Amino acid sequence: MNKSNLLTSPALFRSRVIPNRLAAQAMETNSAAPGGGVGEAQFARYGSLAAGGWGIVIMEAVSVTADSLARVRGLVMNKESVDGFRRLVDSFKAVNPDSLFIIQLTHAGRFAGGFSRPFSGCGDDSAPRISAAGLDAVRNLHGEAARLAASAGFDGAELKACHGYLAGELLRPLNDRGDDYGGSPANRARLVASAIADARAVRPGFLAGVRVSLYEGLRGGCGTAGPEGLMEDLADMRTVLAKIAGAGADYINVSAGVPAITPQLTRPLKGNAFDLYHHFRYARTVRQWFPDVPVIGSAYSTGGESAASFAEENISAEYADIAGFGRQSLADPFYPKKLKNAPGSIDYCTLCGGCSRLLKNQKPVRCTTYAREGGGR
Ligand SMILES: Cc1cc2nc3c(=O)[nH]c(=O)nc-3n(C[C@H](O)[C@H](O)[C@H](O)COP(=O)(O)O)c2cc1C
Repeated sequence: MNKSNLLTSPALFRSRVIPNRLAAQAMETNSAAPGGGVGEAQFARYGSLAAGGWGIVIMEAVSVTADSLARVRGLVMNKESVDGFRRLVDSFKAVNPDSLFIIQLTHAGRFAGGFSRPFSGCGDDSAPRISAAGLDAVRNLHGEAARLAASAGFDGAELKACHGYLAGELLRPLNDRGDDYGGSPANRARLVASAIADARAVRPGFLAGVRVSLYEGLRGGCGTAGPEGLMEDLADMRTVLAKIAGAGADYINVSAGVPAITPQLTRPLKGNAFDLYHHFRYARTVRQWFPDVPVIGSAYSTGGESAASFAEENISAEYADIAGFGRQSLADPFYPKKLKNAPGSIDYCTLCGGCSRLLKNQKPVRCTTYAREGGGR
């Protein structure tokens, strides 16, 4: 393994120098204040992550509309809530002005819970299909949310087009809509590409990233060859992502799977290194397709004590630019600082699944092993 310590050294990310190549991935905590506003739980979690010294912190999925929440206590970005987000960014930057603080924007689509209105973008039946005019409106909502996020002081917005939510569902070969949002790769990429272009335009230097599931493990899903395809065949995703990269995506955060259906793809199981290696390969694939677009790799928590050396190896080989940690950032928000100064004191994620179970059961999310609600030590 290369011992160059690229992982923990300052790095250039677009035009910004960040303290290291470690990212805290978006992790829904289902703990917003009433009405979807920022509450105490967010101040605790993001305050700890700021103090923990991550190069990039991606704020958990925030809905662009109160009409489509995946969680009963999901966050919403709108004119009413923006002041809370501004106070959150201010408190983050007061602790740590060097790290990037990026908001993840989402529309839950068919995964909107019973308390809001589920819509599907394509595919079966179980939820009414959203109209083209509805998708135009979703695009505008993303633009408005990005403008509000920029005004709140975030460094950028990551469009959640992964894990089966509305924007990700549209990317699928299965998407046979007869309007501007279905059929050809350009049409399937239209919502995401236009939302990226809109986010980039909100102010110079505001980053517009995207998170995708490169392979979903579903028939006709992302990373298959056509509506009937099940096996992995990434050629279609290359064409779709070329449209998104062409719209100016500042980075691509590469994930996999749909947690509600193929959870082991998104969150590899303890003891199954193969799924983690697939994540490494997915990040490398996208990195090689678009050498000018930085790539954040996912699922590093699965690597436990080996994660940092895996990350160092992948970054040295230019298989990824940034290593993204989800569950580890809940287990120990101070992971980057400790990795550099006191590795023996890291609380490693045990991959117990406790945080995922809380989320699935619509409970506020915390690390159940270390009983930490984002506060930490
Ligand atoms: C409790 C929980 C909440 C999550 N919330 C989000 C989210 O808001 N947005 C997102 O893109 N991924 C979300 N994920 C997926 C993680 O970001 C990450 O991709 C996954 O946990 C695998 O990475 P890891 O092995 O580093 O944990 C969530 C995962 C968990 C367990």
